[in-house]
Amino acid sequence: MKFDKICVIGLGYIGLPTASTFAAHGATVLGVDIQPEVVETLNRGEVHIHEPGLRDAFSKALETGRFKAALKPEEADAFVIAVPTPFKEHETGEYQGVTYKLADMRAVISAAESIIPYLKKGNLVVLESTSPPRTTIDLIAPILEKSSLKAGSDFHLCYSPERVLPGQILRELIENSRVIGGVTPESAQAGAGLYSIFVKGQIIRTDATTAEMVKLMENTYRDVNIAIANEFSRLADRFGVNVWEAVSLANLHPRVKILNPGPGVGGHCISVDPWFFVEAAPELTPLIYHSRKVNDAQPHFVADTVKRAIGPLKGKKIAALGLAYKPDVDDLRESPAVEVVHLLQGEGANVLAYEPFKTDAKLPGISITPNLDAAIRDADVLVLLVSHSEFVKLSPESLAKITRARIAIDTVNGWDSSQWQSAGIRVVKLGSGKAGQTG
Ligand SMILES: NC(=O)c1ccc[n+]([C@@H]2O[C@H](COP(=O)([O-])OP(=O)(O)OC[C@H]3O[C@@H](n4cnc5c(N)ncnc54)[C@H](O)[C@@H]3O)[C@@H](O)[C@H]2O)c1
Repeated sequence: MKFDKICVIGLGYIGLPTASTFAAHGATVLGVDIQPEVVETLNRGEVHIHEPGLRDAFSKALETGRFKAALKPEEADAFVIAVPTPFKEHETGEYQGVTYKLADMRAVISAAESIIPYLKKGNLVVLESTSPPRTTIDLIAPILEKSSLKAGSDFHLCYSPERVLPGQILRELIENSRVIGGVTPESAQAGAGLYSIFVKGQIIRTDATTAEMVKLMENTYRDVNIAIANEFSRLADRFGVNVWEAVSLANLHPRVKILNPGPGVGGHCISVDPWFFVEAAPELTPLIYHSRKVNDAQPHFVADTVKRAIGPLKGKKIAALGLAYKPDVDDLRESPAVEVVHLLQGEGANVLAYEPFKTDAKLPGISITPNLDAAIRDADVLVLLVSHSEFVKLSPESLAKITRARIAIDTVNGWDSSQWQSAGIRVVKLGSGKAGQTG
């Protein structure tokens, strides 16, 4: 199959790098997004998201003259869907007294519907959005078949999960192995042909539902493992043990690899995707469900640690360092750091937050400062919530001259306690049993 023209639907963190990479490798690409400002920004030659290397990759794609953005699809050889799959904000599911979150598939449904008028015999459609098991065959195929073409015979249909790491998307898109699940082996073959345009990693063909499960299993595995690390942090705290030291010692065992605890789990993958399994089969997923609950509760453990370290929070000035859901990215979606700030404010603290990757972020009810100094100058306590390189590299001596805070809560093991102590700032690590102690 030849793929001269590819239509990528959804131009966010996944779709835009994918579209740029296809164009850079010789395909003509129409990028589609429902947000007019996204389409206008891209057609002006600018990018609207922060991802290392994306500006350059996008400029190169534009220079080839092979990329254009639009609000609606056009006829193409292949259609790739990369639209969001969050959970529903105002609706939950219920199973034997247990409440679980539900996948919001509206964007996927409308993206698939938008293809119908342009779908032709011999086309390939690939869903990349992380989706509940059986979405490709039970949801996407019937929508596309409204075109009166049959999935798997008139056109090819695949699911291919995206597994890139934000911060390294451009490199990983090309180098990672890619799983392609077809509704038929011929569809998988066509999908493999599409991605062989740029993928240098292994391309593995399977069926669509296996490919959907693979993605959900990867993220659920990580969520469950982070949950046990977070639970260990609470146990270590209870027993006066430093969890970071205990984890590193346990990991000396050749068959043990405990992940790091932290302020919780965020982003719109790991904190969302396990719910897709729970929704699909609540009776089979108690471990997955409880892991989600453990991770969602971790910001409360952080707030409690701050309270135990400095006493009642009412009127206290707190500098929250970092709002992103993980280091060195600007993505604030589902971020536990944001939840921590809300909890501290709920206890009456005055919080100033600084997020170096998004100084102009607007979050309802949160005061965000344009620079670090403004956040820390008058603070009673610093709370390190994200191990952005900029924070980890801070010099405690210089910082101690700017802030009047003499105590810092480190939720990510980003700072060397003894160095900070020498500079006059006591560091209390999350899960160290030290929150209630002085000195
Ligand atoms: N961001 C990641 O690191 C990552 C990693 C792996 C998988 N994923 C998955 O990839 C999918 C896309 O995620 P993302 O981070 O790129 O999302 P995003 O929010 O950054 O971008 C999605 C884009 O799709 C657009 N959109 C929404 N509905 C549309 C429609 N009907 N037609 C055209 N455009 C539409 C939005 O306007 C937005 O610009 C999700 O399912 C996500 O779970 C994301």
